[in-house]
Amino acid sequence: MAIKPIIKMGDPLLLKTAEPISKDEFGSPALAELIQDMKDTMVAMSGAGIAAPQIGVSKQLTIFGGFKSPRYPDAEEIPYTILCNPVLTAIGDDMAEDWEGCLSVPGMRGLVPRHLKLRYQGSDEHGHPIDRTVEGFHARVVQHECDHLFGMLYPMRIRDLRSFGFIDALFPGQTLPAED
Ligand code: NI
Repeated sequence: MAIKPIIKMGDPLLLKTAEPISKDEFGSPALAELIQDMKDTMVAMSGAGIAAPQIGVSKQLTIFGGFKSPRYPDAEEIPYTILCNPVLTAIGDDMAEDWEGCLSVPGMRGLVPRHLKLRYQGSDEHGHPIDRTVEGFHARVVQHECDHLFGMLYPMRIRDLRSFGFIDALFPGQTLPAED
């Protein structure tokens, strides 16, 4: 149980495709410990989610949701989810743009297009299947976190870099947490 340092954009590890969680790893103490470290780090940083590569472990594992993030007070609550080896399938062509931040890109926000609705499949830490169809903020968080497992960071998806900048410059006078 530990808060880990966050790997920041620029580190080549964040550009790699992460290794799938193997059969032997499901249910193992090592996996449980990794998940606990990720959870401790996510909560300490008030993140909406975190992916294993962000704490330096290149595995297809992300956790998200489970509490009201002070960063997203108006968003619907997402159940706390541990997701391994995810497969995302967009439903329909509808996209929406909204502001995103990332623990690996501290102090910044960007306007990112995401699929409005999608199905995600994978498994939990015991290898039990997860299969959900979601939309809106839940769908956005899943897309952001799963991108981390395939070498993508949200600034790479911004359509117009004029909609990318430092939080205090983009939103002057608003009391948003400096880090996310
Ligand atoms: Ni992120």
